[in-house]
Amino acid sequence: MRVELQHVSKSFRHNGQTVEVLHDINLTVAPGEFVCLLGPTGCGKSTIVNLVAGLETPNAGTILVDGRPIAGPGPRRVVVFQDAALFPWLTVLGNVEFGLRMARVPKTERHTAAMAYIKLVHLSKFAHAYPHQLSGGMRQRAAIARALVMQPDILLMDEPFGALDAQTRAVLQEELLEIWRRTGCSILFVTHNIREATGLADRVYVISSRPGRIRHVEPISTPRPRHAENPSLVECQRKILGVLEEEIEKVMRDELGESIHIAHDQAGPNRLREMHS
Ligand SMILES: Nc1ncnc2c1ncn2[C@@H]1O[C@H](COP(=O)(O)OP(=O)(O)OP(=O)(O)O)[C@@H](O)[C@H]1O
Ligand SMILES: [Mg+2]
Repeated sequence: MRVELQHVSKSFRHNGQTVEVLHDINLTVAPGEFVCLLGPTGCGKSTIVNLVAGLETPNAGTILVDGRPIAGPGPRRVVVFQDAALFPWLTVLGNVEFGLRMARVPKTERHTAAMAYIKLVHLSKFAHAYPHQLSGGMRQRAAIARALVMQPDILLMDEPFGALDAQTRAVLQEELLEIWRRTGCSILFVTHNIREATGLADRVYVISSRPGRIRHVEPISTPRPRHAENPSLVECQRKILGVLEEEIEKVMRDELGESIHIAHDQAGPNRLREMHS
């Protein structure tokens, strides 16, 4: 599935005022491509995901799916959120089966399909466990299986690993790449983390805030499996960090005025580097 945002702008009404959140966004996810969105908090990353999912409509511009304007949500575009948002009263199997049940897929068929995806995310032993009995990483695995069982053409992932510890996150990143390779679906993946973006994506879009614009597009051709120390990857990270630092400086200047300069020059970039190391 090819997803294209052409000159997309989005505003929200807030306290009687109209605030532009996204301005003239041009973005493409090619069939089978892994694209990451990276940017400071509030820059509109989730809004882009919601637009592609069909949960929001743009105020200007067009969103095309395989060349046709989208008309609301569709089963071929599925979202995975940061908190797995599983139904607590259903088991893993019940959660994964849910979409198929709604689509009136017969019981044996949906059971077989759900178990296959539960196996793919390594949760077979926990198929009959309830969400509260699972770790955060296991819940995200279940959420991924629940999305995949619908056989989406594109997986929309909004900081899916944001709440996980570093080790669990690294394991799930590897597993996601394997799932991506096996299913051939496209992925649009939101993250705050430069290493995560450069470790996963074919292309990284860096978004600026107020309003969100595409500030930079970084293609990443480093072959997988990728090692964080790979010189070409480090170079990509360095370029992206440079763009983000400029953005953060701009936001700080807007918010706090010129007085922030000294403090930021001394502390800002280093702190940012720590954040992403
Ligand atoms: N439904 C809405 N109504 C009003 N304002 C909204 C709505 N959705 C988002 N916004 C505003 O739009 C801006 C962008 O929000 P969005 O959630 O897309 O940012 P984000 O990049 O995903 O941030 P984060 O990294 O914190 O998740 C924010 O200022 C937010 O308050
Ligand atoms: Mg968000």
